[in-house]
Amino acid sequence: MPQRMPFIAGNWKMYKTAAEAARTAQDLLARLGLGTISGVEVMIAPPYTALDAVGRVLAQSSVQLGAQNVFWADEGAYTGEVAPGMLADLGCRFVLIGHSERRQYFGETDESVGRRISAALRHGLAPVMCIGETEAQRDAGQTFSVLDKQITDGLRNQISDRLGTLVIAYEPVWAIGTGKTATADQAQEAHRFIRGKLAELLGDSFAAATRIVYGGSVKPGNIVELMAMPDIDGALVGGASLKAETFADIVRYRAQ
Ligand code: 13P
Repeated sequence: MPQRMPFIAGNWKMYKTAAEAARTAQDLLARLGLGTISGVEVMIAPPYTALDAVGRVLAQSSVQLGAQNVFWADEGAYTGEVAPGMLADLGCRFVLIGHSERRQYFGETDESVGRRISAALRHGLAPVMCIGETEAQRDAGQTFSVLDKQITDGLRNQISDRLGTLVIAYEPVWAIGTGKTATADQAQEAHRFIRGKLAELLGDSFAAATRIVYGGSVKPGNIVELMAMPDIDGALVGGASLKAETFADIVRYRAQ
């Protein structure tokens, strides 16, 4: 069974100017000890406007830069959009795709998620595909069918030989920014289902090697029990990643 390197990522959403973001990144590196983070891959996804500034801070470290979204065309008359090559050019290695806030407020669908994943892979960006059910869907017993559709439709026709860089983020919508974390058992149950689905679609070895991370009110106080679960390979952290101190505590969960 392949080892899956734990992946702890911060999604800064629409917070911080470029200067504020660069300062937080510097603070984070100071706390983590430049270049000494081992056994965990760390990524920060600041807003587009701070990618350049944060990228410069991270350049000499092992902390990776990520973007929060990407358009699917390589270039063109698409006012307001950002192309995958532009993100790669700024040093991005990862890109969040299909975050529930994008699905909820900006009309993203499983089909558009699929197109963005293909575009990211074409430019060597590792897609972090975000999936998860709403509270109403969970209450109606639809959690697994929702995840099934999101995974199947998002990964349909992906033929890139770089698909192995894919990370899946399970983020139950009812746990995002609410302080309501899924219990470690609830998260594990969903992650196991997701891994099973990946095995069905892409084979056992692909499923065994793919990182599935949890997102939704992750904090220093719950990361340890989440990471103890066999199918939880990391975290996508929103609110608690905005402060270097708390995010560093999450990254160093093994020291708790
Ligand atoms: P919170 O950690 O603020 O709940 O946000 C989770 C999230 O949406 C990360 O992408």
